[in-house]
Amino acid sequence: MAAKLISTGFRLTTLPENYVRPLSDRPRLSEVSQLEDFPLIDISATDRPRLVQQIHQACARFGFFQVINHGVSKATIDEMVTVAHEFFGMPMDEKMKLYSDDPTKTPRLSTSFNVKEEEVNNWRDYLRLHCYPIDKYVHEWPSNPPSFKEVVSKYSREIRELGFKIEELISESLGLEKDYMKKVLGEQGQHMAVNYYPPCPEPELTYGLPAHTDPNALTILLQDATVCGLQILIDGHWFAVNPRPDAFVINIGDQLQALSNGVYKSVWHRAVTNTENPRLSIASFMCPDNGAVISPAKPLWEAKEEEAKPVYRDYTYAEYYKKFWSRNLDQEHCLENFLND
Ligand code: OGA
Ligand code: NI
Repeated sequence: MAAKLISTGFRLTTLPENYVRPLSDRPRLSEVSQLEDFPLIDISATDRPRLVQQIHQACARFGFFQVINHGVSKATIDEMVTVAHEFFGMPMDEKMKLYSDDPTKTPRLSTSFNVKEEEVNNWRDYLRLHCYPIDKYVHEWPSNPPSFKEVVSKYSREIRELGFKIEELISESLGLEKDYMKKVLGEQGQHMAVNYYPPCPEPELTYGLPAHTDPNALTILLQDATVCGLQILIDGHWFAVNPRPDAFVINIGDQLQALSNGVYKSVWHRAVTNTENPRLSIASFMCPDNGAVISPAKPLWEAKEEEAKPVYRDYTYAEYYKKFWSRNLDQEHCLENFLND
């Protein structure tokens, strides 16, 4: 059965067959732990060396952290959340105008992850947009709700500033020049996924998003302020990253893992569902320019004593992205395909 949008407003009492995972591949929610020492970083701090050190520890240990005092205004965030809820609350025929299951098309409203490649579907609808350069893409964004374009433009601009700030900190935390990432990643693209997970009749049997790593450079996630769902894999065990309304969740994507020569990890994460409340999350992805050549930063291996070498071979982001979307989500880490011999 072909998957279709699930943000219908109707509540089912049993999970349709095409969402049911085999026994060996279920979330086992009772085995998920709380992460007590999840890094919370105040990026407005003026003690730069300490801040850089915190970033280093967070990226090396978890590949994930939360930031507060991030410079994105509360009004911008609140408006973004409101317009996203309004969007998914629109009637089905209005939403279907944007529906596509072709992953190369943007903008698109779609469901699950990659419905043409996967065997079991996921309990998620999502709207995917290109957000940079805004002037190039804004005309193709949804015109309903009427405030959508204005609100999302403002949000995207502020998020981009935050992204650059964090890329600088990450560069410094690897002992590289402050603008290393910015230079190597070229004219960075910016994509957005507005994820909507309706209440699910049987959360133990399915995922909102199955385990995956993000294929881009850096992800800036606005989690639902109250509804839990994000989990990350640390030392083989799943941990919940509970929401903090004033924070963004930041994670290292595959490209920063490659640039850091594997010092920083693009960590497996997933989203699970619940029976009670819809959950909204807004992921902004900073993406290398398609022609950017990704290779492990030389200073991280060249001068090392033992026979250190780059873990990954050089490739362009375009090559990587094509590979990523040709797969199913829960296969091997996509970077495994780009290891040096
Ligand atoms: C993603 C993602 C997690 C979430 O969109 O890549 O990991 O909590 N989302 O929705
Ligand atoms: Ni992700």
